[in-house]
Amino acid sequence: MLVTRTVADFRAWRASASGTLGLVPTMGYLHEGHLSLVRAAKRDNARTAVTIFVNPTQFAPNEDLARYPRDEARDLVLLESDGVDAVFAPSPDEMYRPDASTFVSVEKLTDRLEGASRPTHFRGVTTIVLKLFQIAQPDRAYFGRKDAQQLAVIRRMVRDLNVPVEVVGLPIVREPDGLAMSSRNVNLTPEQRRAALVLSKSLRLAESLFAAGQRDAEEIRASMRSLLAAEPLAVLDYISVADASSLDELTTVDRPALVSLAARFGATRLIDNTTLDP
Ligand code: PAF
Repeated sequence: MLVTRTVADFRAWRASASGTLGLVPTMGYLHEGHLSLVRAAKRDNARTAVTIFVNPTQFAPNEDLARYPRDEARDLVLLESDGVDAVFAPSPDEMYRPDASTFVSVEKLTDRLEGASRPTHFRGVTTIVLKLFQIAQPDRAYFGRKDAQQLAVIRRMVRDLNVPVEVVGLPIVREPDGLAMSSRNVNLTPEQRRAALVLSKSLRLAESLFAAGQRDAEEIRASMRSLLAAEPLAVLDYISVADASSLDELTTVDRPALVSLAARFGATRLIDNTTLDP
């Protein structure tokens, strides 16, 4: 497995690598969710590359860039044992010139949910993802559905800018007790880790209400809100039942819906989601 640190070296590898390339962009501190993307990329493509880059432009100054967990040595062992061909792990200076002034913004889809709480987040995500696509020239790129809005925003960018990459979204991978895997879970205390189960529990509640015939989106949100309110360690950011394509909030669940939520447990902010399909 080749580990490259510079754009020039990664491009040189790409130029020499024949066949289709599957790219898995990550911020490292890999877990089974990331590895499920790597395995899908390997299955679908002749070559697989993973990027490891904690992208500063998608963190606001008050966010957890410094606390974001990192363990590159462990990541590389996992990727090597999964048969990845190449890793691109650049420094921030390699990716951004001091006077960089070009950004990619997807409008509207990014002004709600995560975008409402983190106004500069998606501009950072789309900018780095497009840069990685430009550098790696992948045929396919793999993202987890845990970041459902991110996936929708990247798909929109690829569609609107005619980027010749197939974006593949893969299911959320959960711990046996239901907690969605996230690199940030490591920052939870044992009490916060237990409390965080309220996220998946409230999504299961939404699913069971829907299965029982509930179509009133506000009733579903209200039931989820009550469950969250009963967990003292959870500070709710948002609960949403939205049109799965436009991310507009729904009154009635009469089309595919994305049910998503975000909450803080101490200093750690977690997100989770599910879909409802009438
Ligand atoms: O989902 C992530 O880990 C990041 O947002 C991504 C897509 C690698 C861009 O930095």
